[in-house]
Amino acid sequence: MQIILGITGGVAAYKSAELARLLANQGHRVRCILTEAGARFITPLTLTSLTGEPCYGANPDQGEWRANPSIEHIELARWADLVAVVPATANILGKAANGLASDLLSTVLLATRAPVLWAPAMNTGMWEHPAVQANLQRLRGFGHAVVEPGEGVLACGEEGSGKLAEVAAIAEAIQVHGTPKLGSLLGRKVLITAGPTREDLDPVRTLTNRSTGSMGIELARAFRDVGAKVHLVLGGDLPEPWGVETVRVRSAQQMLEACEARWMDSDGLVAVAAVADQRPESAATQKVKKTDGIETLALVRTPDILAALGADRRPGQWVIGFAAESENHLEHAGEKLKKKGLNAILVNDVQTGRGFGAQANTLTPLTAQGPQPSLGPLPKDLLARAVVQWWAGHLQSERS
Ligand SMILES: Cc1cc2nc3c(=O)[nH]c(=O)nc-3n(C[C@H](O)[C@H](O)[C@H](O)COP(=O)(O)O)c2cc1C
Repeated sequence: MQIILGITGGVAAYKSAELARLLANQGHRVRCILTEAGARFITPLTLTSLTGEPCYGANPDQGEWRANPSIEHIELARWADLVAVVPATANILGKAANGLASDLLSTVLLATRAPVLWAPAMNTGMWEHPAVQANLQRLRGFGHAVVEPGEGVLACGEEGSGKLAEVAAIAEAIQVHGTPKLGSLLGRKVLITAGPTREDLDPVRTLTNRSTGSMGIELARAFRDVGAKVHLVLGGDLPEPWGVETVRVRSAQQMLEACEARWMDSDGLVAVAAVADQRPESAATQKVKKTDGIETLALVRTPDILAALGADRRPGQWVIGFAAESENHLEHAGEKLKKKGLNAILVNDVQTGRGFGAQANTLTPLTAQGPQPSLGPLPKDLLARAVVQWWAGHLQSERS
């Protein structure tokens, strides 16, 4: 994405440097515009060093907005896929809400047709003032997104609301707001399971597997970004993705119950979780002591979540499964597709060293029409986006 990052005059401006670096590391092109007050808090040199792109000043005689100011602001407005203002002062909110264009940033904001996102930061009294809230309401009415500030100790020493949102959350919101929405998934409710399950043997020991949950989390993000309403049922320890309603579970039984509670209200299921096939017949309430000789562990089957939800389906609900196979992967996955009545299965060849915990991965979609062109190898975030694009196209072609 090509992002204009507007930085206005608040103490939180130093955090915009971290945001600029994070966005650049994520592969975005980031060009910063500093207001005159913003330039008192952070220098263009820091921002150009972090982004590798020019940094623009407030006025024609500053930074790159020099040669032909009447054209430059239009070019920047057109260049942007998204304009984010972080931190946003009460002043810039008021200007943008009322169509004022007195410097480069406010002019670009007025000229651009790209999505706009605000991350305000200010003293609690300013934040709670009806004028500021009315301006924000007006900006929301223009279709702009607002990442609300949190509560905490502010630079002025007061404690209350007005503290800039976390940089990671702002980066996630930029991803969501800047991603074009896909018609076949927009507003659709997608249930996703992710991560390992854990079956306890006793209070300190557990049966689990090497799944981390990262692929399912990336898929939740990717579906969220294109406009789906995502419910994530998550095992494991990875943090919950921003903007996704997440339920934490531990065992296969808990995962089944969490899914059943949401399934009837969902349009589709993406079952990525590595669900344990077996659990101990009984979990001891006290730590099991070692004994001499061979010790045995009696295992029983856990519920088959995919089969249970697949069997309990209303017309139009779709189900995508995952298969991590180490041999004859397409053949085994084809059997699973038929047996469980899935719409598609994404096949992961774990034998090649890709899959659980790996950074890059390849997935081959399999439908009733047979194997589809493989997606990847790609890092999991890009692979998840490729899966979502493929599935949205598949749904679209089924409709037409
Ligand atoms: C030390 C200092 C800190 C400030 N912090 C904030 C702030 O966090 N939020 C805010 O809305 N204004 C803050 N202001 C006031 C703005 O800098 C002032 O309204 C300025 O005109 C904003 O200009 P700009 O929106 O063009 O950047 C601060 C001012 C000073 C001197």
